[in-house]
Amino acid sequence: MSRLSTAAYTLGALLFLVSCSFAVYYGSKVVSHQLPREKKKTTEYNYHFVLVPEELDNEYWRLVEKGAKEAARKYGVMLEYAGPKQANIDDHLKTIEMSAAAKVDGIMTQGLSDEQFPPLIEHIVGKGIPVITVDTDAAGSRRLAYIGTDNYYSGFLAGKALLADTKGEVNVAIITGSFHRNHQVQRVQGFKDALKKEKNIHIVAVEESDISRVKAAEKANQIIQEHPEVNAFFGTSALDGPEIAHVVKKYRKQNDIYILGFDTLPETIQLMRQGIIKATVVQQPYEMGYGAVKMMIDIIKGKKVPPIVHTETRILRKKDIRSGDYDSGGE
Ligand code: BGC
Repeated sequence: MSRLSTAAYTLGALLFLVSCSFAVYYGSKVVSHQLPREKKKTTEYNYHFVLVPEELDNEYWRLVEKGAKEAARKYGVMLEYAGPKQANIDDHLKTIEMSAAAKVDGIMTQGLSDEQFPPLIEHIVGKGIPVITVDTDAAGSRRLAYIGTDNYYSGFLAGKALLADTKGEVNVAIITGSFHRNHQVQRVQGFKDALKKEKNIHIVAVEESDISRVKAAEKANQIIQEHPEVNAFFGTSALDGPEIAHVVKKYRKQNDIYILGFDTLPETIQLMRQGIIKATVVQQPYEMGYGAVKMMIDIIKGKKVPPIVHTETRILRKKDIRSGDYDSGGE
């Protein structure tokens, strides 16, 4: 063999090995996380999308999934719903990576504020797989579009609701899903901005629940003990409000403490009917899921889509709830 052909042969073998190890690496990851999880259907589908929530079994995200599945059925899409069992950045990023490695046609994900997110999205979009953020944007990334609440505005509305519903000196404690996730930061900021000129309203504590029920309850307990002057709470993610309500009830302070929650999950609505949670911020998770699938199809077809689609947000109070409304969590 001439020196040249030996070199060519070695190079060829090397390339083959590299591509094999990639296949094994990604292949095994796909299997270990069971992506695609759904059994291959005999029915034909036009596209294969993945929706990555903050937390798989969170009731709020199940509504996003419901909307996405409905649109998927209508438009012939095979939709995977995959992601962290409990909110976890590493699992979240890994699911996105695996979906890209499995060469899906589109990825819909909650936008993350972590530094690993923009380069990963840039890489995936660069490879031709469109990415849309849902519920939480990551405006600094190369995601192609966002569909979800205007989170700053929703927090601002919450601040105005507290102002309208309370009198005299108000000492508010905030329990937020996270100190660093974009949407939670924006909700808290909007809330503070709405109240910043109000001399009688004081924000006395801000704590983080990590969107965990247990932690939300722990923080509410701690706040009531450390700040007996608290007479209002604002919970900025779906499970915070109900947990605050349980703790407030335990201390028999439901007549003295104003509670403002987020989202319209059945438990929240029930606590509103009982008069314990006084108001909540409405989001449209079903619409987000449904709309994201439609937008993704439009993007793939080369249609122009708006980079930001804000779904409706507003304040709901007990008097606005009609019987039968929100029984399934959505509207
Ligand atoms: C947020 C979601 C979050 C959920 C947690 C909602 O208010 O929009 O991003 O995962 O609360 O329970």
